[in-house]
Amino acid sequence: MAVRPIVRMGTPSLFEKSVPWPENKFDSPELQTLLADMKDSMIAANGAGLAAPQIGENVRVVIFEVDNNSRYPNREPIPFTVLINPQLTPLAEEKVSDWEGCLSVPGMRGLVPRYPTLRYTGFDEFGNAIDRTVDGFHARVVQHEVDHLDGVLYPMRIADMTKFGYTEILFSELVGVDED
Ligand code: NI
Repeated sequence: MAVRPIVRMGTPSLFEKSVPWPENKFDSPELQTLLADMKDSMIAANGAGLAAPQIGENVRVVIFEVDNNSRYPNREPIPFTVLINPQLTPLAEEKVSDWEGCLSVPGMRGLVPRYPTLRYTGFDEFGNAIDRTVDGFHARVVQHEVDHLDGVLYPMRIADMTKFGYTEILFSELVGVDED
């Protein structure tokens, strides 16, 4: 287990499409090591989620969790989830905009349109099927993390670039928002 450096925007590998995790490598030491490194790195950076490409591994593996996260105060909790080879199905016609940040784009926030409700399927680390229908911040986090697997960073989805900037400028009235 190790905290690994977070790959930041500008690095070409962040814009690549990641490959599926091999079906014969669920419940493997290789996957457990990857997940342990991802979890350690996410916790060290106080992130709500992390995709494998953010620690330099271009495979379709994401993790996320929200539990009293000071970077995202007043958000509903999301249970710790390992999601491998995910598929998303939007369950809304219109997207809704809300603020996002990303550990690969430190110190910034942007207003990003996302589907407010969706179904996601995939597998946990043991190869068990996951099938959830979610909304709100949970739906947003999943879309953000799965975007990483397709080489998409949230600034590429911002509709109004005047709503993209430094956290300390955009939210100067807030006390206790972490630098990231
Ligand atoms: Ni991100």
